[in-house]
Amino acid sequence: MERDEAIKELELAGEMNPGPWIQHSYTVAKAAELITGKINRYDKEKAFIYGLLHDIGRRNGYSYIQHVVDGYEYLQEKDRKAAYICLSHSFPNKDIREYQGIIDIDAKRGSFKSRAFFVIEQVKD
Ligand SMILES: [Fe+2]
Repeated sequence: MERDEAIKELELAGEMNPGPWIQHSYTVAKAAELITGKINRYDKEKAFIYGLLHDIGRRNGYSYIQHVVDGYEYLQEKDRKAAYICLSHSFPNKDIREYQGIIDIDAKRGSFKSRAFFVIEQVKD
């Protein structure tokens, strides 16, 4: 996904569920771009885009950890790497057992733990 498309996605998401998370997403995007530009290790354009989209699951409304699954599912067909980042960004050590917040995953949608472990295993790089 390109920058302009990611911005449109965030703008649409902001219309669906307005809130401070939109500004947070822009801040994360700019920080990621700045950091990657300084360390010269990753693509800073991609860092901006992934930062912008990391919380896109919040488009579905207020939630706790459900937003990582919603973002992953929403972006899976649009940008697979961005989808993985949606799912993994709440687990910096790649261990979902470290999560301390409210677990509000929809139980009807399967086992979150087994699905999350499966996906996180794929994105450890
Ligand atoms: Fe988040």
